[in-house]
Amino acid sequence: VLTENHRREIARLWERKIAQDAASLSNAERHRNLHPDSAELLHALAVGLCVKRAVEIGGSSGISTIALAAAMQATGGTLISLEIEPRRQAESKETIARLGLDAHVDYRLGDAGAALPEIADIGMALIDCEKQDYVRFFDRLRMRAGGVVVADNVLSHHLTEYVAHVRAVPGAESITLAVGQGLEITRLP
Ligand SMILES: C[S@@+](CC[C@H](N)C(=O)[O-])C[C@H]1O[C@@H](n2cnc3c(N)ncnc32)[C@H](O)[C@@H]1O
Repeated sequence: VLTENHRREIARLWERKIAQDAASLSNAERHRNLHPDSAELLHALAVGLCVKRAVEIGGSSGISTIALAAAMQATGGTLISLEIEPRRQAESKETIARLGLDAHVDYRLGDAGAALPEIADIGMALIDCEKQDYVRFFDRLRMRAGGVVVADNVLSHHLTEYVAHVRAVPGAESITLAVGQGLEITRLP
């Protein structure tokens, strides 16, 4: 479950993001985190589906990492956290260690495009990186049957090409939820 401690860390990261947005920092400087409501939903989905292997593409400073790592603690699974920016990942590691969730996160630093082909049998994936990479990375995901892919920012960034792409997969079911910045939740056959 998401505990008070988990939620406090999520709230801390989110409040910083809001303050940085208000200060109009550049993209490189500001932390672009997942909305806390989306974190709650991700957590519930991963626990409910009893996901054993989750992957996040774009861990950053770690709101989704907290949500998914706490879920993996509940299911006895592992989150593979992919992030290209060393400082973001280092900060996430500190938070996850402080929460005692480090045994449930396999951190990998580098380009997700290179890492993904090596990761199979994925029960749930979160795509939360540069928007132009969504379609390409979705196609590289090696999901297990019935696996669920969640993509953030589909409403805030009008990701119509991505939504059309996932909905064209034969047998896939997909829905856009107006939670946080807009989530596309896709269940694969
Ligand atoms: C929107 S933020 C992720 C927010 C995070 N999921 C959270 O909940 O706080 C996007 C992150 O994706 C990372 N990223 C961008 N391209 C990437 C790539 N090709 N491989 C791995 N990470 C990437 C960025 O460095 C950035 O930290």
